[in-house]
Amino acid sequence: MAPVITCIEDLRRQFRRVTPTMFYDYCESGSYTEQTFRENVTDFDKLRFRQRVAVDMTNRTLKTTMLGNEVALPLALSPVGSTGMMRADGEIKAAKAALKYGVPFSLSTMSICSMEAVAEATQAPFWYQLYVMRDHEYTNNAVDRAKACGVSALIVTLDLQILGQRHKDLVNGLTAPPRPTLSAIADLSTRWRWGLEMLGTKNRSFGNIVGHAKDVGNLASLTSWANEQFDPRLDWDKVAQLRDRWGGKLILKGILDPEEARKAVELGADAIIVSNHGGRQLDGALSTIRVLPSIVREVKGEVEIWLDSGIRTGQDILKALALGADATMIGRAYIYGLGAMGERGVTTALDVLGKELDTTMALCGRRDIRDVNRDILLVPEDFEGRWADEPTVG
Ligand SMILES: Cc1cc2nc3c(=O)[nH]c(=O)nc-3n(C[C@H](O)[C@H](O)[C@H](O)COP(=O)(O)O)c2cc1C
Repeated sequence: MAPVITCIEDLRRQFRRVTPTMFYDYCESGSYTEQTFRENVTDFDKLRFRQRVAVDMTNRTLKTTMLGNEVALPLALSPVGSTGMMRADGEIKAAKAALKYGVPFSLSTMSICSMEAVAEATQAPFWYQLYVMRDHEYTNNAVDRAKACGVSALIVTLDLQILGQRHKDLVNGLTAPPRPTLSAIADLSTRWRWGLEMLGTKNRSFGNIVGHAKDVGNLASLTSWANEQFDPRLDWDKVAQLRDRWGGKLILKGILDPEEARKAVELGADAIIVSNHGGRQLDGALSTIRVLPSIVREVKGEVEIWLDSGIRTGQDILKALALGADATMIGRAYIYGLGAMGERGVTTALDVLGKELDTTMALCGRRDIRDVNRDILLVPEDFEGRWADEPTVG
């Protein structure tokens, strides 16, 4: 019997049941002690809503715009590497679900299905996320390929010049596709549906890289290439060069500080994603919902401010909007759905979040998502944290 899905947590449980441990763990972990990974979720719980009653609740709308285009919800799918390992052809399935629902989809540099394959399968524009690699020829080509694919906005991720370690990936010997070790075979043998679907697709390696980067023709060299190739020299000048080469809508991802939000505005970004990579990079960084107010104070109205990291409910989305975000993004929440039930699972995740958002907005006395503001929220006085100043010397 099909499981009853009431919330995103139900999808996570189902995802865990049907997915090889290596890929479940890859998704469901943060770097090092996982403090930031945990707090991304638990810090939303510190905020409360103000209930309003006897307000007409008819004719509600969740529609808004992102980069000038109408979206069904103030929500987009964040770029997630190896999505096509969570479920065969995962990027294509997620892109199709997003398209039908009316929210933007972002494709990762480290996706399994190539941007060309996603463009062909969906016949619709999507966003492409760029990791800047040491191999600048590869990076420049990726920008040109994105243009040729009709990609409608480029996301440059700024918070992954070097990799934060996720312990479980080392223990599991994570590779895409999995190497046939004894433990991997034992794991995969209990996930037969996943395996059967994988056998039915040719998309089983990093499609944006194999055949496009020098010296990467086979898988053995690919894993080391990916780990060694993120460019530690990435700086604002390089971002400006990419902006000029791309020439289209630009989204900067990984902004966690008002000073850098200001730089993004000066650089001409169309949107920033307030993100700590879902707690996968700087362990000990603040959760995004706690830094959001300081970024809103700095750049609200000058650039679109979107937030990801930790969103698991429609209530979380509403809290982010109330604190000043123009929209939100989700990573794991849709990956759980994809892994659990394929394209239908992504649609279910969007449905769950949309309904939670709609009901919560109504109970806060609002009918139009664009009218949501700080008035609906109760924020603890110390929510942003009162941090000691830098000690002065002498
Ligand atoms: C399994 C996984 C892989 C990810 N891969 C990428 C990636 O390739 N590029 C990127 O910019 N962000 C990547 N991210 C970060 C997401 O884009 C997003 O910032 C994060 O998932 C948001 O947190 P949430 O999962 O709590 O919603 C990844 C996140 C996860 C969970």
